[in-house]
Amino acid sequence: MTSPTATLLIVDDESQNRKLLEVLLRHEGYLTLGAANGEEALALIAQRAPDLILLDIMMPGMDGYQVASNLKANPATSNIPIIMLTAEIDRSARLIGLNVGAEEFLTKPFDAAELQLRVRNLLRLKEYGDFLQNQSRILEQQVQARTAALTAEIAERQRAQEALRGYATRLSELSHRLRTMEETERRAISRELHDRIGQELSALGLILGSLGAKLPRESLPAVHKQLQDMQGLLKSMVGNVRDVMAELRPPVLDDYGLLAALRQLVTEFAKRSGIAAELSGVDLQPRLPSLVETAMFRISQEALNNIAKHAQAKKVEISLYAASDRVVLDITDDGVGFDADETPPDQQHWGLITMRERAEAVGVVFRLETAPGAGTRIALEAERAAT
Ligand SMILES: Nc1ncnc2c1ncn2[C@@H]1O[C@H](COP(=O)(O)OP(=O)(O)OP(=O)(O)O)[C@@H](O)[C@H]1O
Ligand SMILES: [Mg+2]
Repeated sequence: MTSPTATLLIVDDESQNRKLLEVLLRHEGYLTLGAANGEEALALIAQRAPDLILLDIMMPGMDGYQVASNLKANPATSNIPIIMLTAEIDRSARLIGLNVGAEEFLTKPFDAAELQLRVRNLLRLKEYGDFLQNQSRILEQQVQARTAALTAEIAERQRAQEALRGYATRLSELSHRLRTMEETERRAISRELHDRIGQELSALGLILGSLGAKLPRESLPAVHKQLQDMQGLLKSMVGNVRDVMAELRPPVLDDYGLLAALRQLVTEFAKRSGIAAELSGVDLQPRLPSLVETAMFRISQEALNNIAKHAQAKKVEISLYAASDRVVLDITDDGVGFDADETPPDQQHWGLITMRERAEAVGVVFRLETAPGAGTRIALEAERAAT
């Protein structure tokens, strides 16, 4: 690694010494520069830093110690190795030289072989030092570049996450709005059915009844059967309209509250599915806010639909309980259960997503506990406003 074209600066006020060193070093293939005193040496170094300095101690003006401490104090020149030229066995001079940072000493008169070895070793050390410094600079630059790239990447990800959060919030607001509109619509249609069709059907029933009473006795046997059929038809129409109204929006939910609506729902469910269903609970006093009641009712509907469709259950238990600060609605089946972490491969399953979303939109905590073979439990927890 030693470079034969290294430049060496010889600083000595005695030109004979400079000459001698010059001859010895040039013979080795080095380039040499000469300075007759400290000031001249510093001026030369400022122009072009040499690879090594041979520095005499005793010089008129600035002495060798001052030059050395000056160079070692400056980060631009501190890594240039210095060989101090001392008189034989000059112990105190060596100590001072070491103290100001000189790397080596060479005793006058010079021994050519020693000079060559010391110069070569020091140059090799400096080359290693330079190489390491260079490597660490490159590494530092790479670290800086990577850090900058990572910082930019993190900022970009944060922006993307914020955008996603924004979309999610808007989406859930939108779906909440849609659901509120749907409930309003359902309520309006149910009211229309009640006020218009229902009233008119009742009126028709009265008319039919009085028609029978007004007919002359002789004509009665001829139309009796038709009158009975008409009244039967009318009764079933009234029943159908009631069913449609209850499906749209059970009036019992508005009029009597969640427990009563659940009772109706559970009875219907048991009749339709043949699965034993048990409801327990208490009437909530005061009632929950209408939005929360509706959400809990719709979620129960969807949960029972799922049980009828997927659970193969023998029994369902529904309970509605209230503590002073919260209301808990629990729907548990003893059916096949499922793996809730396994998202269905197609996008045909909206029930669970909608349930969770409905609950969260009105501040209700939605919990699903299930495992294959272990049944399914859905728990809804609503906080109660302090009274
Ligand atoms: N009570 C349950 N018992 C067993 N499996 C259930 C139960 N509830 C849900 N699952 C399983 O979870 C899946 C997802 O249910 P989800 O209600 O989201 O969708 P779906 O009922 O298949 O379709 P959708 O409700 O959209 O008509 C179901 O396909 C079923 O495999
Ligand atoms: Mg479903």
